[in-house]
Amino acid sequence: MKRFTLLAALAAASLSPMLAAAQSAAPAGDAQRGSQKVQMCQGCHGVLGWRTAYPEVYHVPKIAGQHPAYIVAALKEYRARQRSHPSMDAIAASLSDQDMADIAAYYAQAPLQTAVK
Ligand code: HEC
Repeated sequence: MKRFTLLAALAAASLSPMLAAAQSAAPAGDAQRGSQKVQMCQGCHGVLGWRTAYPEVYHVPKIAGQHPAYIVAALKEYRARQRSHPSMDAIAASLSDQDMADIAAYYAQAPLQTAVK
């Protein structure tokens, strides 16, 4: 997971300066890209028929179908330590603004659904 994040950061750093400038303002989320970044979230925030083996899935807030701005705001709060949870702090710290936007775009269009009822 760490290596993936590093590669993503390197890839982002190599983008053209113009694109990077546009992204630093308010990165636009891409749900398609986001779908490739949520593997590490799914075990806890299972959506789209994912059968998680994680028995405490009920205690994890559902983020599918949430407004993207809400998801990004929550992730930024964890990253800035304005909000804290042992599971989320390190995860949010490993995400760039672009990652957050992509992930939020993905989850926002994912149907609201619980993995197990
Ligand atoms: C190890 C389990 C786990 C993983 C993995 C995980 N989360 Fe979480 N997440 C939680 C828990 C537990 C909370 C509730 C924390 C709290 O009460 O503050 C949470 C809270 C959140 C919230 C705030 C929801 C709200 O309604 O306030 C968001 C957004 C979120 N997670 C996104 C993600 C994303 C995106 C990923 C993957 C990059 C991820 N999480 C990975 C367990 C996890």
